[in-house]
Amino acid sequence: DSNLSKREYWRKRYNWDKQVKMDWLVDADEVSQNLEPKIQQLRKKTGEVCLNILDLGCGTSDVPSVLLKRCKTPVIIYCVDYSEGALQWQKGLLEDLDQKHGNLLSNYRLVMADVCQLPFKNNFFHVVIDKGTTDSLLKSKDGHQMAVSCMKDVHRVLHPLGNLWQITDEDPDIRLLFLQSIQDEANLKYSSSFEVLLSDDINDYFLYTIKEDSLDKP
Ligand SMILES: C[S@@+](CC[C@H](N)C(=O)[O-])C[C@H]1O[C@@H](n2cnc3c(N)ncnc32)[C@H](O)[C@@H]1O
Repeated sequence: DSNLSKREYWRKRYNWDKQVKMDWLVDADEVSQNLEPKIQQLRKKTGEVCLNILDLGCGTSDVPSVLLKRCKTPVIIYCVDYSEGALQWQKGLLEDLDQKHGNLLSNYRLVMADVCQLPFKNNFFHVVIDKGTTDSLLKSKDGHQMAVSCMKDVHRVLHPLGNLWQITDEDPDIRLLFLQSIQDEANLKYSSSFEVLLSDDINDYFLYTIKEDSLDKP
């Protein structure tokens, strides 16, 4: 559905859909169970006190609040979306947590921005989580170009030791080719791998891990 790549669609949707909150593809508990140990390992690897995490196109997902509540590793979670309704929703969820964070140092920020023009410094994020957002960019007629410019900017803000995690139902045959083609077109270097995050009767849901090639970062 090409609507999924249009800002106006999301603006309206978060306006009329106020009661219906949803997590795309995989629920937040599943995601956080899988990612928490990986985040902990990443903290050891980087040696940082606190990790900056970007939720790219956070929507009304519970991923930021569940991670903030459960994650023992200190994290600052940046919820980024271009829809004000989504950020208002996140504000409610995150305020309701009442600072009962998994770590006292953990916190969150809400940022209204386009995922293709991220208002952050180079190398700032140790983790970028993209659950369904690249998928929605790809629905547009010029989706490939949008996804390329998003990946370029994600690459720019990602720490040399950082990970981008894409959660999608797109088959590895297609997604790995797509990730390879972006490398070639945008002149980026990274390695990609995947695992099955969840299977149900209808679909497999994948977690793709994209790692910077740190030698290649400016
Ligand atoms: C398919 S939803 C996924 C939401 C959430 N990550 C989840 O798992 O439930 C895509 C989200 O990305 C946001 N989005 C789409 N294109 C965007 C863009 N160019 N810049 C910022 N946000 C965008 C939409 O507003 C929407 O909230």
